[in-house]
Amino acid sequence: MNVNREPALRLQGIVKTFPGVRALDGVDFEVMPGEVHALLGENGAGKSTLMKVLAGMYQPDEGQIIIAGQKVRMTTPIEAKAQGVILIHQELSLVPEMSAAENIYLGELPRKSLGRVDWKTLEARSNAILKRLRCNFRAEVTVANLSIANQQMVEIARALTVDARVVIFDEPTASLTDAEKVVLFDIINDLKAQGVGIVYISHRMDEIFTLSDRITVLRDGGYRGTLNTADTNEDEVTRLMIGRSLDLSRDEAAREFGKTMLDVRNLTCPGLFENVSFSVRAGEVVGFYGLVGAGRTEIAETLFGLRKPTSGEILVDGETVEIGSPRAAIAMGISLVPENRKEQGLVLQMNCRDNMTLPQVQDLTAGPFLSQGAELAIFDQYRDRLAIKTPSWRQSAGVLSGGNQQKIVIGKWLSMQPRVLIVDEPTRGIDVGSKSEIHQLLRELAAQGYAVIVISSEMPEVLRVSDRIVAMYHGRIMREFSIDEVTEDSLVQAISGITSDTAA
Ligand SMILES: Nc1ncnc2c1ncn2[C@@H]1O[C@H](COP(=O)(O)OP(=O)(O)OP(=O)(O)O)[C@@H](O)[C@H]1O
Ligand SMILES: [Mg+2]
Repeated sequence: MNVNREPALRLQGIVKTFPGVRALDGVDFEVMPGEVHALLGENGAGKSTLMKVLAGMYQPDEGQIIIAGQKVRMTTPIEAKAQGVILIHQELSLVPEMSAAENIYLGELPRKSLGRVDWKTLEARSNAILKRLRCNFRAEVTVANLSIANQQMVEIARALTVDARVVIFDEPTASLTDAEKVVLFDIINDLKAQGVGIVYISHRMDEIFTLSDRITVLRDGGYRGTLNTADTNEDEVTRLMIGRSLDLSRDEAAREFGKTMLDVRNLTCPGLFENVSFSVRAGEVVGFYGLVGAGRTEIAETLFGLRKPTSGEILVDGETVEIGSPRAAIAMGISLVPENRKEQGLVLQMNCRDNMTLPQVQDLTAGPFLSQGAELAIFDQYRDRLAIKTPSWRQSAGVLSGGNQQKIVIGKWLSMQPRVLIVDEPTRGIDVGSKSEIHQLLRELAAQGYAVIVISSEMPEVLRVSDRIVAMYHGRIMREFSIDEVTEDSLVQAISGITSDTAA
């Protein structure tokens, strides 16, 4: 295909510092035409920063960018795009008030001779791209009305408007359903067949090993090496990434469960979930497993006072309760770490410490406000426990790496010391090392007497953390398993709505 094997793009000795952080420390990286090159590293390792250098958003302090044998300087994303380098952001960067079409062609709207926007052409072209992505919405729709997953598809659609040399996907699957993932992987394979170089960033090892030709590992801003995917394995890559192998076993210490902390009976929210009954005891972790859209998040939101059920009963610590608002839920000792942490969990301009102590400052109705010292003590404790990487508590949360932002939100709800802790997709976007720490932390919290609910779409995760697993399908509980009886096959069947033995 490429006879002289000239890279589509090469980075040499890239150094980039921010106040207090050496984000990149002499990193080399190249992408061949038609190659999927995975970029791997812990949260805060420098992956997004390297890609922003590549896409003209950051200027490197040192080092070179070489495209088709030529040294280039790219000082804006527009210049990078003109060179055929396109970055699909980890953080969505759409204008919510505009239509999907306007977002797809942002800055380059097709115009008529008088300079007016050519809406017909814009919408026709955009709809063609959305069709290619098998999206089930039209380009005329306002982005704010789209689900997060569909917004992600709009972000991806942007990359298909130009002849790309290199397309960078920065954690594109974090909010996609399995079906949408399949479409995305098809698109990536199409681009690859056309000779486009792909950079793929993800914390999902399964995706990396399915998609990539080569893997480059960063650690603490340093270059740790490049491997052929076919010649390596997860363990080797993990060791390069975090400096050790991972212990993925469960803590098998015998467990004693306490009294029932949460008892849910025939809870119904029409169209979302129906007749849902389950209970969680102190000391127990109950995993909710199912496909995106099975109703798990909606149940969690109901328990946190964000939705009103039309029928059914909720008992907390043996007493029937009405949970009218999140404030009421918090007062009853129920905490929810939401699925979409960026939107629901974090004030980006606020510093890390204040983000973490926010609900206590705002919602503790009894007693005086926390002192600065107490706030800092809480921050320090959870920074250490969750291995949050930030130069100082004063750093605004918005500039932390994606995964570290998530840890701040998790720390925030843990620091409330709830009796019932609900975590929705707790490790999405979190690197494998911290992921295993968070799993352990959830088990420890249960051992301390908390009742824990973990909602997850990742089977290894529910199998690792749960004492019991509730399998949901289309708003209904299909089956409940104890961890001793569950098998992967039976789980897959239950969440696919299959009751007889016909699973693929
Ligand atoms: N604009 C900025 N100002 C200050 N520090 C920054 C800025 N952007 C990134 N950093 C810091 O640089 C380091 C690398 O961050 P980066 O976002 O590149 O990590 P990442 O590898 O993409 O992590 P993740 O897997 O969590 O997305 C982090 O310590 C981060 O806090
Ligand atoms: Mg990142």
